[in-house]
Amino acid sequence: MTERMLHLPDVDATCLLAARLAASRPSRAVVHLHGDLGAGKSTLARAMLRALGVSGAIRSPTYTLVERYPLGDGSGADGEAFHLDLYRIGDAGELEFLGLDPAEGALWLVEWPERGAGGLPPADLRIELAMAGPGRAARLVATTLDGAEWLARLEADPELRALPPSSDRKSRQVPDS
Ligand SMILES: Nc1ncnc2c1ncn2[C@@H]1O[C@H](COP(=O)(O)OP(=O)(O)OP(=O)(O)O)[C@@H](O)[C@H]1O
Ligand SMILES: [Mg+2]
Repeated sequence: MTERMLHLPDVDATCLLAARLAASRPSRAVVHLHGDLGAGKSTLARAMLRALGVSGAIRSPTYTLVERYPLGDGSGADGEAFHLDLYRIGDAGELEFLGLDPAEGALWLVEWPERGAGGLPPADLRIELAMAGPGRAARLVATTLDGAEWLARLEADPELRALPPSSDRKSRQVPDS
């Protein structure tokens, strides 16, 4: 299992990480986004969708549970992105009624995946977000070979070097007040 810790001092840093994740993603990727309310999961998911060329409204899936977006030029060749937020799901069985085939979808971005239990495709990448002073800490854990190769590409990405590793910042964190 490979993992990487990053400190995201502000929203721009979250969006930079999202853009680099989008640029280096495998042809099919399942991302589980963990973190408390307000940790920044939707911010990261939205910025990934934007980076992949989604230009219209990016609606919150809070009540619909899923929002779907064609990727690429819209011809469908690049497949679809699924953005899920399972915070309000009654039980994991409700996932069946969403009509999502776990084998489909070029990109799954799932907030509150723990509430979907066994109804979700397994993650390639688990992203854990947490408050860290005024910013956020991100832990990226690869859980498949595709995920590990994705993290390796990210590791080699010069644009991400602008982000400090989170451990560097711990001693310098300023509490919110
Ligand atoms: N790196 C960051 N530093 C500071 N603020 C951030 C960062 N990333 C996101 N935020 C801010 O955190 C707030 C909450 O973000 P967001 O809605 O994405 O959280 P969430 O994890 O999706 O929450 P929920 O579980 O309620 O859906 C937003 O105001 C967003 O701008
Ligand atoms: Mg959210």
